[in-house]
Amino acid sequence: MSYDRSVSASAHELGSETVWHIQMPEIRFGANAVEELGFQLGDLGAAEGAAGLVVTDQTLVDLGHADRVTDQLEAAGFGVDVWDGAEREPSIETVESCISFVRDERGEDGYDFYVGLGGGSCIDIAKTTRAVTANGGEILDYVAEPTGRGEDLTESGPPLVLMPTTAGTGAEISPVAILSVEDKDIKEAISSHHVRADAAVLDPTLTTTLPADVTAKTAMDALGHAIEGYTTHRYDDLLRPSDPAERPVYAGRTDFTEAFSERAIRLLSNNVRRVVNNGDDLEARSKMLKGALFGAIAGLTAGASLCHAMAYPVGNKYHTYHGETIAALTPASTLGYNAASDPERFARIAEMLGAETDGVSTREAADRAKEEYVRLQRDLNVLPSGLNELAGITEEDVGWLADQTVETQKRLLRCNPRPVTKEDAEEIFTDALYNW
Ligand SMILES: [Fe+2]
Repeated sequence: MSYDRSVSASAHELGSETVWHIQMPEIRFGANAVEELGFQLGDLGAAEGAAGLVVTDQTLVDLGHADRVTDQLEAAGFGVDVWDGAEREPSIETVESCISFVRDERGEDGYDFYVGLGGGSCIDIAKTTRAVTANGGEILDYVAEPTGRGEDLTESGPPLVLMPTTAGTGAEISPVAILSVEDKDIKEAISSHHVRADAAVLDPTLTTTLPADVTAKTAMDALGHAIEGYTTHRYDDLLRPSDPAERPVYAGRTDFTEAFSERAIRLLSNNVRRVVNNGDDLEARSKMLKGALFGAIAGLTAGASLCHAMAYPVGNKYHTYHGETIAALTPASTLGYNAASDPERFARIAEMLGAETDGVSTREAADRAKEEYVRLQRDLNVLPSGLNELAGITEEDVGWLADQTVETQKRLLRCNPRPVTKEDAEEIFTDALYNW
């Protein structure tokens, strides 16, 4: 295999990987699960009278979702403050203002617990705020060099419970927080098991107010996690590290992750049309939230790959929504370029997406995965037809984007089932300009 081996011992001392490992927050799922938030925090050790902070945004306050959460916390005997300054794609300055709020209200020790309520941005701000207040210093201490100082987090801090209000990012279970560096047009990640939440409470009644276009965009991100996780390299394509601590975060697909991918692809593709057309359909909303959770368990453990690698340079330069970018890139990358790596697997994806595959060759069935995915996007009627409609990207831009992908996204490309050169990336970006 041509993958980099992210282990310290030399290859001749090592054999193939034989072990996989899953690390997850506690998960509580279902309609009105918000009513069990107080119990969940008590179970994590928050004592009566403990003071917590809810990190959210103004929209969720206006919609009354923040009140539903604070009412539960007060009924359980906790004190609660709300910080509602979250913004889309939060900058380091925004997160610093949340950390300053904590230190002004509570001193260096911070709150006794934290709740992140909202989309990926609110959740990432909550994760970063708990991590930095528990470990001291400032955000840039823990951002990788050269942007930051690359210090390791050593403390997880007090309980953190995350409550997603979108069905998509998977941020509620991931060990990563993503922050924008404003003056550089780049995003940086703080990645550590100390960033991961103690519990995720997923309540579909918190998702029914999500507008149709955001519903569609976040769903395509979730579907991307499920499909990319299903088609990434196998865990035993890597070498077993001599120290288990060196096992990479994206460790490859296993029987465990594949089971979640398969269920996620069906749940998401069978229900996304329903929730985009009728946001109040609670049964379909519940299936989407479950599908997004399963997709994240699969994709964020096995590893996202080429499509996510290509999406980051696009998002950094053009400030597009992550899910919309994934939607524009998936046909050409995951379902186009990568289909040759394992046609039987892609034929199964086509069948899971709802394509007719009886009586056709394996290769033809594999190609139908891409066709069926594009049909799904067109049916939703709120997604761009490709990178050109998404952000005015043309053939003149693909050289720079391809260069950025192969130079800055090696961590994700390492997981891809086919090697990708700069020339390959240029072709895939060109293919993604117009999906229909
Ligand atoms: Fe994603």
